[in-house]
Amino acid sequence: MQQVEKKQRENWGSRFGFLMAAAGSAVGLGNIWRFPYLTGMNGGGAFIVIYLICVFVVGLSIMTAEFAVGRRTGLAAVGAYKSYSNRWSFAGALGVLSGFFIMGFYPVVGGWALAYAFKSVTGLLANPGALGDAFGAFITSPVEPLVWTLIFLALNVVIVAKGVAGGIEKAGKVLMPTLFVLLIFIIFRSVSLPGSGAGLTFLFKPDWSQVNGSTVLAALGQAFFSLSLGMGCMITYGSYLNKKENLPSNALLVTSMDTAVAILAGIAIFPALFAFGMEPAAGPGLVFVVVPSIFAEMGGAGVLFSVLFFALLVVAALTSSVSLLEVVVAYLIDQKNMERKPAVYASSGIMVVTCILSSLSLGVMSGFTILGVGVFDFFDILTDKIFLAIGGMLLAIFVGWVIKKEDLKDELTNGGTVKFALFEAWYNLTKYVIPVAIAIVAISGITAIAQKSLMIFGLLVIVVLALFSKKL
Ligand code: PHE
Repeated sequence: MQQVEKKQRENWGSRFGFLMAAAGSAVGLGNIWRFPYLTGMNGGGAFIVIYLICVFVVGLSIMTAEFAVGRRTGLAAVGAYKSYSNRWSFAGALGVLSGFFIMGFYPVVGGWALAYAFKSVTGLLANPGALGDAFGAFITSPVEPLVWTLIFLALNVVIVAKGVAGGIEKAGKVLMPTLFVLLIFIIFRSVSLPGSGAGLTFLFKPDWSQVNGSTVLAALGQAFFSLSLGMGCMITYGSYLNKKENLPSNALLVTSMDTAVAILAGIAIFPALFAFGMEPAAGPGLVFVVVPSIFAEMGGAGVLFSVLFFALLVVAALTSSVSLLEVVVAYLIDQKNMERKPAVYASSGIMVVTCILSSLSLGVMSGFTILGVGVFDFFDILTDKIFLAIGGMLLAIFVGWVIKKEDLKDELTNGGTVKFALFEAWYNLTKYVIPVAIAIVAISGITAIAQKSLMIFGLLVIVVLALFSKKL
């Protein structure tokens, strides 16, 4: 490995701080907004089984690999790849681009959650029958959601401008444990409703007839999205980690926490949903339409539950979006020699524009499409269905075929001072199995999916990045 000159690198203040920040990055809208609606749309239990396999076979291995690459190099995504080979910097750049793209729609949904926390107090629940229409009217309106999105983005700027230990770590430490407590609280309410058993059956009894290539790609993409993998985020967070931490055990902890929250979110939502006889396949509006309906029927306490729920969603979204912004910012700091604050302002300035376009694409700009989809879906589908999975595949190939096996062993065992009993299994899985498995899932998913031209465009973007790798 070529030695890289670097400034004194920021570091996490404590082990707990790092864990909370990494788990905070993983746990987000992906778990609470997207996981339940994907599960609902893909038939329940069978999707969950495939998802769990993707998480613990592919996701856990990739997270371990990302931590190792980040800490070994002490650099964020592009720099980490580049320190081994210039030709590979495109894989890191793909990650930075994914960060940009996800930040093109994520703050929009974060803004909805913020709005709903406030709306819960100001009479949102008063008219349960109109909740579906109210949500539709809200997200398609030209001004109101923009205001909330911008507030959400501003919160990100404040946190990330303060820097790793100062802002991101402190936020994670306080907000993450609060999230767990709030979720357990809501579950108690949900499973104690009469008729809630059908929701548990839906979640845990697989119906395999619903499964095809695009289900598997959806589960794989969701695993990457939910665990914050395939775009350099965990490489970046790993680069701030000190040499004493046990990387494989941290990866296992973060993966387990993330999966636990997703399943808990499912248990919070589906039993109540079935108890009230609602539709599980309601799509992206699920959380925003169905959950307030559930709370509305609880009387006065429902208002409190609703505020708590959406506050929880904002908290979760914020600890994730700061990690997305950090990937972009760390690239500008490491590769373009920018100072932290200007890097934050420049990148978030562009995100203001992409988020506004995304939000408007659901309403006044709905006629404007790129390759058959609106701006919001463009960012969402491209990252979730292509970039993250291919980013993960590239990382696996890089780790398996470019980095020396002894170096990986050294990094994952802290120079032989801690045990990693599964090293050989992890290595062979990452080197041989995962790249092939992702390629198969991606090909069969792309052939089954409706937005084929968008998928082909995504692949072309990756090829173009690869061609210009030396410039990145
Ligand atoms: N994991 C986050 C979530 O589930 C989203 C995210 C993706 C964050 C990629 C960082 C990197 O909401």
